Formats: sequence, structure tokens, C-alpha cells
Amino acid sequence: MSDITINIQNSDNTITSLVAPIDMGLSMMEFLKGNDYDIVATCGGLALCATCHVKIIKGFENLNSISDDENAMLDTLPNITNTSRLSCQLKLSEQMNGMVVKIMGDGLS
Ligand code: FES
Repeated sequence: MSDITINIQNSDNTITSLVAPIDMGLSMMEFLKGNDYDIVATCGGLALCATCHVKIIKGFENLNSISDDENAMLDTLPNITNTSRLSCQLKLSEQMNGMVVKIMGDGLS
């Protein structure tokens, strides 16, 4: 398999399904930005800005574990949820096929 489907839950609760390549080493942040989603990603993917915050609606258990740096950054967010991740720390992989995410941002703007 070289492509997966990522589903984005929009603010009006509709779902947009996108086909994502897993053989290019992209992070979910890079993929979402590349599809014109409004993610600032000030730090460029270093887990330092939290503007790439997403809530995982479905498929959270299939993701790589959270590093201390990611955890510390998520902890600073006013809009953190039980299934929050920094999308720059999620490298697109086969296990993510069919997941549903909602773009949250840092909750400050
Ligand atoms: S892009 Fe800055 S934390 Fe993900």
C-alpha cells in the first residue's frame, strides 16, 4: 500500500476525505498544509509551537507514542483534548489509514 485515506472533520462536522501518500516521509502537518488547510506551523515541525494541534476523532490508538517534548507542548494548550496530538509529530503511515482528525490549532487566536 502506498496511499492511505485521511478524513478531516470540518468545523461544520462534514468530513473531507483525502488520499495521502505514505512513501514520501511526510508528516500529517505537512500533508494538511499542502492541502491548503490553515496551519501556521511556525516552528516548522519541531514540536515547539503547537499551531499544528489536531484532535484525533478516530484512530488515536494506532499512532506512535507521544514524546516528552510533544506532551509538554500539548500541556500548554487551552484547547487540549484526550486525543490531542501535534500533527507535525505524526509521520504518515499505513496504520493511519481511515483515521479522522479535526484541526484545532493552538486555541489562542
Ligand atoms: S509545527 Fe510547530 S509544533 Fe508542530
